[in-house]
Amino acid sequence: MIKTVTISNQWHAIEMSQIVIGENGVSDPARQSFAYRCFDRYLDRGGNCFDTARLYGGGRSEAALGAYLKGKRDKVYIVTKCGHHDMAKPPNARLTERDILGDVDASLRALGCEYTDVLLLHRDDIYTPVEAIMPVLHTLVATGKVRLLGASNWTAGRIASANAFAEANGLTPFSVSQVLWNLGLTTAAQTGDLTHCVMDTAEYLWYKAQEFPVMAWTATGKGFFAKTVSGQPMSAHAEQYYGWLPENKKRAFRAQAIAEAMNVPVSAVVLNYVLSGDVPGIGVTAFSSDAQFDETMRAADFTLNAEQRRFLEEG
Ligand SMILES: NC(=O)c1ccc[n+]([C@@H]2O[C@H](COP(=O)([O-])OP(=O)(O)OC[C@H]3O[C@@H](n4cnc5c(N)ncnc54)[C@H](OP(=O)(O)O)[C@@H]3O)[C@@H](O)[C@H]2O)c1
Repeated sequence: MIKTVTISNQWHAIEMSQIVIGENGVSDPARQSFAYRCFDRYLDRGGNCFDTARLYGGGRSEAALGAYLKGKRDKVYIVTKCGHHDMAKPPNARLTERDILGDVDASLRALGCEYTDVLLLHRDDIYTPVEAIMPVLHTLVATGKVRLLGASNWTAGRIASANAFAEANGLTPFSVSQVLWNLGLTTAAQTGDLTHCVMDTAEYLWYKAQEFPVMAWTATGKGFFAKTVSGQPMSAHAEQYYGWLPENKKRAFRAQAIAEAMNVPVSAVVLNYVLSGDVPGIGVTAFSSDAQFDETMRAADFTLNAEQRRFLEEG
């Protein structure tokens, strides 16, 4: 069974699986039957949540997920996003009322659903005040299109100020954050997208103090750690995000030492790193083979202790 994290606001509460499946190639016709098989196996293992966005798969991802979820909607949670950045003009987030409401209607149409369990703002634009954003999001909750709100790629400071404003004005606050987080160290400059928000020590300590749930996107570092150890070729993105820093390779081999001692796969140790800390952590991940699914999902079967986590980080 996969453990869960509670995500709640004044009106709704869900128990989200600590492992969430992301886009997973579902929008690619050549990969769709594999993606659906992963989804089936994930549900069989007790998983209950899918992460998607209008931008994924050239706009086809939500429709492909929605088709899969027909007849299953009441058994699963959907996380989708709005306020998508304009890819042609980064880092401009689209956070006007028109952008947000239009994005949500388009997502619900594509998914074929009346509501999403969680709605995330996909990116931030610090020049758009939270006072202009939170009332718009609140209307989505009040009208039943959205149950829980969250921010993706927002700093803890911006989330804190948005939630202070929401609380002072009786609006719905953010209940979950989604940031780039895994065993590796990287920066937005290194990923090549300055709209990315990367977990660091100060952000982590804030989430810990607030007991604020965090969904880690790219939770296995795009396979960097498992593939560093196995010597398998890795994607250009995995190399770009993590290959630049020797410390990340050291972390891969420390994960291997723990994996061998526990008789579990390296990728399971890497994913468990975000599930087993002091922050209520959820890993958003994906697979490109059944073997990857089998290995990575083993993360549900154990919990790293504080000493193992310290060893992964410090040696
Ligand atoms: N909020 C945001 O801005 C944002 C941004 C990005 C992603 N996301 C979400 O996060 C989800 C997951 O992102 P991600 O795909 O980067 O997650 P990830 O888990 O870090 O990377 C998945 C990739 O890792 C490799 N992998 C998985 N298991 C493996 C194993 N056992 N051994 C070796 N390699 C393995 C595979 O890459 P290969 O195909 O190269 O083998 C797989 O496609 C996305 O689908 C999306 O839903 C959100």
